[in-house]
Amino acid sequence: MQPDWEAHYQRGETPWDKGSASPPLVAWLHAHPGAMDGQILVPGCGLGHDVRAIAAAEPHTKPIGFDLAATAITACQRQPAVGHEQYLLGDLFDLPATLQKTCDWVWEHTCFCAIDPAHRDDYVRAVATALKPGGWLLGIFYLDPYRDDHQPGGGPPHGCTIEELRTRFATKGPFRITAAEPPAACYPERDGRELLVTMQRTGSGTATQSPEATSTTAPTS
Ligand SMILES: C[S@@+](CC[C@H](N)C(=O)[O-])C[C@H]1O[C@@H](n2cnc3c(N)ncnc32)[C@H](O)[C@@H]1O
Repeated sequence: MQPDWEAHYQRGETPWDKGSASPPLVAWLHAHPGAMDGQILVPGCGLGHDVRAIAAAEPHTKPIGFDLAATAITACQRQPAVGHEQYLLGDLFDLPATLQKTCDWVWEHTCFCAIDPAHRDDYVRAVATALKPGGWLLGIFYLDPYRDDHQPGGGPPHGCTIEELRTRFATKGPFRITAAEPPAACYPERDGRELLVTMQRTGSGTATQSPEATSTTAPTS
């Protein structure tokens, strides 16, 4: 069963929210200045820390935070703008026309792992729909979120493997994985449990600057 995300935000019970942007994202933006360009979708943006980090690091971009929890989106919209960021309320599985084939990048952080694994192919379809052909998905994937008090089947976060990502995104889905590597930085409790994955939406058309110019690590198992 999916959590009632809106109720979590209303009660202020948001243990996933660390109060600042994702360390892997901040490190990546620092290492790849200018690489992230155009319109950037942040699905399941929560309170918007990552959206603001992108807007601050790349002020020419248009980052769009997207979430189905109205309380989260309202909190994002109350934050002072740091760039050209925007926030939209909506369901990733019912993307508005303005987010279909209009995005150059998707930044994924704790949305994929929050979604019931039975709907992961729907997630792949949604981000593929959001991206222009040739657009990029950069994501920090939570491989192993399990602890003594949180086991598989116990609700989100749900773990995954690189093999699963390859199958869902590249074999069945319209992506090619160009890099998969441990992130340069992470939250201490997620050390060794995450993988930073870069993938490109296949199809004709032009892409923004290739992140491969500075990141060439081959996907690993
Ligand atoms: C675990 S939280 C992570 C939030 C944020 N990325 C962070 O790390 O703080 C998952 C987020 O995904 C949102 N979400 C879940 N399913 C969604 C969907 N189908 N469409 C849009 N947002 C969704 C939830 O409302 C929640 O804010």
